[in-house]
Amino acid sequence: MKKATMILDRDFAIGAIDPRLYGSFIEHLGRAVYNGIYEPGHPCADESGFRKDVIELVKRLNMPIVRYPGGNFVSGFRWEDSIGPKADRPKRLDLAWFTTETNEVGLHEFCEWAKKADTQVMYAVNLGTRGPNEARSVVEYANHPKGTFLSDLRRKNGAEEPFGIKLWCLGNEMDGPWQMGQKTAYEYGRVANEAAKLMRWVDPSIELVACGSSSSEMPQFGAWEQSMLEQCYENIDYVSLHRYYANPAGDTPGFLARSMDMDGFIKTVVSICDAVGGQKHSKKKLHLSFDEWNVWYHSRQQDEEIWKREKWGRSLPLLEDIYNFEDALLVGSMLMTLLRNADRVKIACLAQLVNVIAPIMTRDGGGAWAQTIYWPLLHGSNYGRGTSLRPITQTPVYDCADYEGVPVLDAAATLGEDGNLTIFAVNRDLLEPLELTCDLRAFGPLTLKEHIMLHHDDVNAVNTEAAPNTVAPVKGPGGEVSGKKLKAVIPALSWNVLRLG
Ligand code: AHR
Repeated sequence: MKKATMILDRDFAIGAIDPRLYGSFIEHLGRAVYNGIYEPGHPCADESGFRKDVIELVKRLNMPIVRYPGGNFVSGFRWEDSIGPKADRPKRLDLAWFTTETNEVGLHEFCEWAKKADTQVMYAVNLGTRGPNEARSVVEYANHPKGTFLSDLRRKNGAEEPFGIKLWCLGNEMDGPWQMGQKTAYEYGRVANEAAKLMRWVDPSIELVACGSSSSEMPQFGAWEQSMLEQCYENIDYVSLHRYYANPAGDTPGFLARSMDMDGFIKTVVSICDAVGGQKHSKKKLHLSFDEWNVWYHSRQQDEEIWKREKWGRSLPLLEDIYNFEDALLVGSMLMTLLRNADRVKIACLAQLVNVIAPIMTRDGGGAWAQTIYWPLLHGSNYGRGTSLRPITQTPVYDCADYEGVPVLDAAATLGEDGNLTIFAVNRDLLEPLELTCDLRAFGPLTLKEHIMLHHDDVNAVNTEAAPNTVAPVKGPGGEVSGKKLKAVIPALSWNVLRLG
C-alpha cells in the first residue's frame, strides 16, 4: 500500500472560511428555473409552483447564497420585465441561449424561492446591453425601504419589506465574444466603476463583484484584470473567476489534476489584485468570488443538436450534463482548492444548481435526484465550516500530460468552532489505496467519529432517477487515533471525509 503523511496544527490557519464558499447558481437557462425549481402542476409543487422535492435537496446542501438570474442571460435581461402581475409580463427572445423568456419567475418569485430554500440571493445586473442607471434602479427597487417610485412599486407588487439583497454582480463575463454587449477591459472597468458608485449610493451596505476574465484560458486573461481594476479598484469588493473542466479524451489522471490549474488561476488573480492595489497605494484588499466552477462538457454535442432542431423554445433541456463518478472526484478537489485559498476566496458558486450543469436533476412531472457531484458539495458545506487549516502533506506523486508531480493525496482540513476537525481527501491513484498517517500534535484527545467515502469501481458510473444511489456516500474503512496520530486508509480513487471530534 502506498503511504502518505500529513501534519495538522491549529496554528497553521489559512483563514476563516466564509460560508458563501458553498454557494451555487441558478440562471434563466434551459430547465433550471422552468421545470427545474418551478413546475406548477407537478405533484410536489407548492402554492407558488415551486417543487418542494427540489427545495428539500437544495436545503440539504445548506447553501448560503445562490447567484441569479445569469450568467450570459443577464446581459440581455430587463429586470423590469420580471416584476408586476404575471399576465402582463412580456415574453422576450433570450439571445444568450436562443430560447424564449416568459418571465413567469422574476425577482419577487426568486426571492420567495430563496427564502423557502434557506438561502440568500446574489443578484447580477445587466452591464451588457444596459448600464449604471438600470443597475442602480434595481438596487432601489429591491433594497430601498419606501417612499420612492421604485420602492413603492415593489410594495405595490406585494413586497412591503425590502428584499435586502447584499451581494451584487456587476455584469457577467464581459470579455467574452459570446456576451451581449462585450466590452474591452477599459470600457468594462469604467462602466463597472460608475455602476458600483451609483448602486452603493442607493444602498451603502451592498457588496460588489466585478467581472474578471471569463476563464484563465481567455487570451486577455491577466491583462483584463489589470486594466479593468485600474478603473474600478476602489469601488468594488470582489473579482470574479469562472472555470469549467472537461475530460473528452477519458484521461482520468490528467482530468483529476485539473484542480492544480484552478489553484494557479486563483493565485494569479490574487497577485494582480494586490499589484493594482499596490500601484494605487490603496489600503483596500480585494477578495475573490469564484462564482462559476464545475465540470462541463458532457452535454455540448446534445446542445448543438437541440439548437439545430429547435430555437426559441421554453425550458429546452440545455446543458444537461450527466455527471459520472470521476466528475465528483474533481469537484471534491476543486472544493478543496477553494478551501486552501479561503484567505482570499470568500465566495464561490458551483455552476449551476438544478438541471443545468447541476448537482440536482429533475424529470418533468417526475422525480428529483442527486447527481454524483452533489455529494462533495454537501459534505463541504455541512462539515467544512470554521477555519481552513493548511495540511502539510508528504505524498507519492505522478506525472500527466499537463503536470509533473501531481500529489496522489489531495487534502484540505477545517477546524469548526465546536473544536471538531474535518479532513477532506481525494486519493487520485486509480488502483492503490493510501495509508495515511496524520500527526495531530496540537490537538487534545480526538477520536475518529466518522469516515464518509464516495467510491465506485467505474469512473463512468452515474446516478439516474431509477438508480439515484449508484454513486452515493458510504461508510469508509475508517482508522484509529492513538495518542496524537491518526492512521486511516484512503481507498483508491475515492473522496473522503474524516470527521474527528
Ligand atoms: O453557467 C453556464 C454559462 O457559463 C454562464 O451563463 C456563463 O456565465 C458561462 O459562460
